[in-house]
Amino acid sequence: MTTSAPTLILAPMRGITTMHYRQAFVRHFQGLDVEMAPFIPTVNAERINPKLLKDVLPENNSGLPLIPQIIGNNADDFVQMNIALHDLGYNEVNWNMGCPHKPIRRKRRGSGLLPYPDTVDTILDQVCERSPVKISVKVRLGVADKSELMKLIPVLNKYPLSEVIVHPRTAEQMYDGTVDLDAFEEAFQALEQTVCYNGDINDLAFFQSVEKRFPTIGRFMLGRGLLANPFLCEEIKTPHVRKCDSYIPRIRDFHEDLVSRYEAVLHGDHPVLGKMKEFWTYQTLHLSNGRKMFKKLKKAQRLGNYKDIVTEFLAEADWTP
Ligand SMILES: Cc1cc2nc3c(=O)[nH]c(=O)nc-3n(C[C@H](O)[C@H](O)[C@H](O)COP(=O)(O)O)c2cc1C
Repeated sequence: MTTSAPTLILAPMRGITTMHYRQAFVRHFQGLDVEMAPFIPTVNAERINPKLLKDVLPENNSGLPLIPQIIGNNADDFVQMNIALHDLGYNEVNWNMGCPHKPIRRKRRGSGLLPYPDTVDTILDQVCERSPVKISVKVRLGVADKSELMKLIPVLNKYPLSEVIVHPRTAEQMYDGTVDLDAFEEAFQALEQTVCYNGDINDLAFFQSVEKRFPTIGRFMLGRGLLANPFLCEEIKTPHVRKCDSYIPRIRDFHEDLVSRYEAVLHGDHPVLGKMKEFWTYQTLHLSNGRKMFKKLKKAQRLGNYKDIVTEFLAEADWTP
């Protein structure tokens, strides 16, 4: 049984958990311990374009420990990216072997690597040998066949990975259906490294059920559930101090902070609205009037109109746990 507090990690969510989101999040909510940045693709270039690294520049980050993530399948490019990230001050890089999107997996990137243990072995052999940083990996159960991870684990166990994050779904499932906790248990027992659980931690009760079933796991990664309920880490760390009546004003402050960060860096209403509409796909889920609010703000074409809608609906909203 773990006696210390669990380590809670923000899941990388490309397009959503940007440096702006992460900076705002940490100003308004407590309980999160670590953040993982959305993936950076490895590139075959003499010099890595600084634009690729902007999201993980230390000066753009929240102050919480940040783990950059890469996606790719070429050992040389991977090592080169690790050196660039090490130069920025990072000592760990995560390798994405979980991305389920077809165009990515067709190129044997992300989850597309899961059925190829020999390829993973060759890449890890090179990367672990030549990188100045520790390597962790984020995996799913397989592409269509959930036994693929079990076949990959003997390869993963050969390397001193700092952590293996397991999201117990197949790539074909995308984000649908349920997580397979029996398959997670099998993988957890077979893995010799530190294991982090990821998937569907949407409320305190589910978190506690996973923690109870796997009492030796101390690390949990939270994605969509935390976006919908940014108080979730606080609820997990201090389950007896739930102050739901302060939640709506805190969401209002967080939203104002985030929208002004995007207004400062994006040009014109349209890109800001795009970001904010994506934000509300999650953030409306616990609002009593969230469905109506989302329907209305999806149609907004101007920032002024958008802000009026947010103000109007938040004034009426209750938090629904
Ligand atoms: C819009 C979106 C973007 C994502 N981007 C990434 C990414 O860049 N890297 C990654 O490893 N996983 C990515 N994921 C997967 C999440 O990190 C996480 O593994 C998944 O959502 C399951 O956790 P959850 O049930 O807590 O959301 C993304 C998921 C979504 C929905």
